[in-house]
Amino acid sequence: MKIAVIGAGYVGLTTAVSLAWVGHDVHVVERDETRLARLQAGSPPFFEEHLAGTMVACAEQLHFGRSYESALAGAEVAFIAVGTPSGEDGAPDLSQVEGALGQVLDAVSERRRELVLVVKSTVPVGTGDLYDARVADAGLVGIVHLAANPEFLRQGRALHDSLYPDRIVIGGAPDALVTLRRVYRPVADQSFEAPSELPRPGGLSAVPLLEVDRRSAELAKYAANGYLAMRISYINEIANLCDRLGADVDAVASIIGADHRIGNHFLHAGVGFGGSCFPKDTRALAHIARENGYAFELIAAVIRVNGRQRARVLERLELSLGGVGGRRVALLGLAFKPGTDDMREAPSVPLAQALVERGAEVVGHDPRALEQARRILPGAVALASSPEEALLGADAAVLLTEWPQYLALTPNVFRAAMRRPLVIDGRNALSDAVRHDLEYYGIGRPVLTDLLERHDAVAAD
Ligand code: UDX
Repeated sequence: MKIAVIGAGYVGLTTAVSLAWVGHDVHVVERDETRLARLQAGSPPFFEEHLAGTMVACAEQLHFGRSYESALAGAEVAFIAVGTPSGEDGAPDLSQVEGALGQVLDAVSERRRELVLVVKSTVPVGTGDLYDARVADAGLVGIVHLAANPEFLRQGRALHDSLYPDRIVIGGAPDALVTLRRVYRPVADQSFEAPSELPRPGGLSAVPLLEVDRRSAELAKYAANGYLAMRISYINEIANLCDRLGADVDAVASIIGADHRIGNHFLHAGVGFGGSCFPKDTRALAHIARENGYAFELIAAVIRVNGRQRARVLERLELSLGGVGGRRVALLGLAFKPGTDDMREAPSVPLAQALVERGAEVVGHDPRALEQARRILPGAVALASSPEEALLGADAAVLLTEWPQYLALTPNVFRAAMRRPLVIDGRNALSDAVRHDLEYYGIGRPVLTDLLERHDAVAAD
């Protein structure tokens, strides 16, 4: 099938590459010149594992350009996959979606060929209904069929999640769903040949295709992200209690996660969630509820807890260093999570800002996000080209992104480079050796020196 994809961000480009891989002819429209130039030269404009190689492997089925007309000519389906950043009051800013919708409708008006127009961007519940009115105003009823198809991919595993999703959700009128079923048949049946660098998970032979009404599809994305974010805030609250009670959050999480009704995913305590989805979608869910006269208490608490969690690392630094002014602090990891160079809502950003404001000397390192960091972090933050360089002469190190190369650092590396081997593990991910040998603080992990003192006291008794 010929398919148009509007927008080559994480969701748009991954969708385009996965649909091309399974055999469709995909035409991507991207308005940003720099991004487009990179795409036309054959490489993704951001780092995402496996995307570059797969893009090259299906280059013949993938086309990039600026023109809506040529992308839509002969296309049966168009996906809108542009950004919906948080606007005022937590409401998602739909200007990019509306801009794309207008351009698609203009292009279709000229040809009047039927098109299933799929909103993949995360939009408030009821947006599809509002856009039906736009289709009617354009005189395109019966020609443009709107559908919702939320995306659940994770950055760092985006292509994997598109080719091997837990479920595919499509919402809309029957005509639109018939076409979307054809688009997704190879993924639903798992009938495509797996890319060699991304083998099919063992035992996966089919993916459920859930057909629902459009409003339920729209709400499902927010509901899923809100729930996952809630689990993170919940375990972070338990971690904070662990700190007060001398319990270990890792032990508690593994016990509750062993209950199959709960499961062990998204129970990892740390500095809180970031990224392009959870912060924005939890705010949007609260906003949508408010707009509809409902006080969604739980989601409001999830957001508050996450804000408070981020402040904990700074509090620990202030306490251990007796104030951060004049101290050198190394930040290990600037991206919001490993496997990506994305720094949207990354905990590193407010922490670096707060440290600089308080007169600390801040040096950051990230294996992938240095280019982004240069644009986003305050100019006073120095950027190191290796973790060792970042640690050199530091009074404290903070792990903010659990990149594997940081987890492999031995206590000696910290000791040899740092002025004081004070390590704050914002991801509860550093090795036991680091935890035992250095002045180490995790989130909800007992401080081992306290434990030792307690043992000593018991022994002395
Ligand atoms: C998320 C959803 O997982 C995905 O389904 C949706 O489509 C987009 O949002 P993503 O933002 O890429 O994906 O990352 P994810 O791996 O879910 O992590 C989000 C944040 O939560 C990160 O900051 C991560 O560090 C944090 N996190 C995750 C925790 O703090 N603890 C956990 O147990 C899991």
